[in-house]
This record gives sequence, C-alpha cells and structure tokens, in this order.
Amino acid sequence: MKIKVLGSSAGGGFPQWNCNCRNCDGVRRGTLKATRRTQSSIAISTNGDDWLLVNASPDLLTQIAAHPELQPARRARDSGIAAVLVMDAQIDHVTGLLMLRERDTPLPLYATDAVWQDLSSGFPVGPILSHYCGVEHRRIALDDAPLAVAPLPDVQIDALPLSSKAPPYSPHRNAPERGDNIGLMITDLKSGKRVFYAPGLGAIESHVLAAMREADLLLVDGTLWTGDEMIRLGLSKKSAADMGHLPQSGPGGMIEVLDSLGTGRSRKVLIHINNTNPILVEDGPERRVLTEHGIEVAYDGMNFEL
Ligand code: MLT
Ligand code: MN
Ligand code: ZN
Repeated sequence: MKIKVLGSSAGGGFPQWNCNCRNCDGVRRGTLKATRRTQSSIAISTNGDDWLLVNASPDLLTQIAAHPELQPARRARDSGIAAVLVMDAQIDHVTGLLMLRERDTPLPLYATDAVWQDLSSGFPVGPILSHYCGVEHRRIALDDAPLAVAPLPDVQIDALPLSSKAPPYSPHRNAPERGDNIGLMITDLKSGKRVFYAPGLGAIESHVLAAMREADLLLVDGTLWTGDEMIRLGLSKKSAADMGHLPQSGPGGMIEVLDSLGTGRSRKVLIHINNTNPILVEDGPERRVLTEHGIEVAYDGMNFEL
C-alpha cells in the first residue's frame, strides 16, 4: 500500500494568504528554515494508478499538478482519483470536491451520515455537484463493519468516531453527532501493516488509544503546539479545544500520548499542522523536542510504503 501526503497543513495552509505571524512572514521572506505546505489531504493506492483521495483540499488542483502519479492518462478524460473519502465536513477537507465537477461519471464519496448531512445543508456541495458530475454517497456506517473501498481491493478501512468538532456552518455544530469527525485505521491485507490517520483529534478516548497501539504508522493531529497558541498571538479567539484539536505540548498533550505507546513499535508522524505552530521551524527548539521523542513532522510529498 502506498500513502502519499498531498497536503500536510491545517486549514489556511502555510503560509496563509493574510497571515504575518512569525512563521508565515518568515517562510514568505525566506528568513526562516521552514517549508511551504498545502491544506490537509492524503492519497492511498495499492496499484499506483487508482487512488482513494482522503479529504479533498481547497488546494487539490495544485496537489494534482505536483503529483503526476495522480494522472495516469488512460483516456481522453481521466484521473487517478477513483473515489474520495472525507473525514469531516470542514472547509479544508471538502472544498476540493467542487474541483472534481468535470468528471464524466458521478463521484463516489465515502462519508458518514453526519458529514453527508452537512454536505447537503450547511455546505451544500452535494446539491451543487448534482448539477455537474453528481455524487454517489457511499455510507460510512460506524457499525464496526470494516469498509471495503472500491479502488483499494486489498485494503480494509475501519472508521472510528472521534470527539472533535463539526464545522461552524454545520446544523449540529453545538449538538455533536456521532460521525461528525472520524479517524481511520487503514490495513493492508497483504502485508498486515496498519496506519492510523486522524488529522483532527480533540480527545484520546480509549478506543482511539487502542487503535493507536495497533498501528505501524501514526499520522495524527499536529495542528497546534499549545492550546492557546492562536489566542496568544492575537490571531483568533479560539483555543485548540474550541476547534477540536489536542495540542502537542503540556500534560495530556500529543507528545505525552505518543510517548505512552513506547518506542520502536510504530512510526509517529504529526500532520495537519497550523501555520502558527513553532514545530514548522526546522531548526527550532520545539522541532528538537519532537526529534528527541522520535516524532516526525509530515511534509507535502511525503511517501509511505507499507
Ligand atoms: C480545523 O481543522 O480546525 C480547520 O483546519 C479549520 C479551518 O479549516 O478553518
Ligand atoms: Mn482542518
Ligand atoms: Zn501564520
């Protein structure tokens, strides 16, 4: 199984168009040792031609252009993106669906009922696309039955309900529903290797920790270093908890959680990194702390083979 990180940034990207925080300004001017990143998405394939896109980023067209493997060019109109799975209905994970409208067949879209509801109401990408290629909603039921995804014949996907947040435009923003956010356990049935992917993780519940313990590769929420990062910088009124993200540092933070899994068993990688996060500074003290704990930071174009 091949996994490709198309976008390793949180919503906004890095640098964010209107942001002059130390990181965004520094990467723009070239005065900081840091690398640009597009918004959150990965792609999975077993044969290298047919890909499941997991989350459809606002930067999808740039990501496709950066990865020629996603265009196998078998017909006059073609794409390697055979289907899409979305893990929540946030702008950074669903806006790219609109960019796929030129398809000549309906888009197979794997989503929970809660997310599909949002995509039929608060952010009506389903109704909009019905005027173009159309969407074929394939239900992620959260009933413990593993999901077989058409373009990935030898892969099993198990979706885990997570406590995080529905987007601000969701009809159930303030009344969370099971399935607003999911994590994925992706198993290659041939190699037996497992990947746990959760770009938005607000709390480590016991079923989440159990999944993390079983994974060979962890791709987990790296949004913010501290809970009040955006507030302290004067950039937002929202804390990590308000946004449904667990910070990395401090008691109960992601570093502590990943440490508790021990060393040697799994590869630990942070993904969905917000542009304010000091771990983006490649020679900075926070990045050094991660390295000391055996934790990597995902970048656009990072590849895994399991
Ligand atoms: C989030 O996960 O909280 C998002 O990245 C926020 C956004 O896209 O605005
Ligand atoms: Mn996000
Ligand atoms: Zn910034």
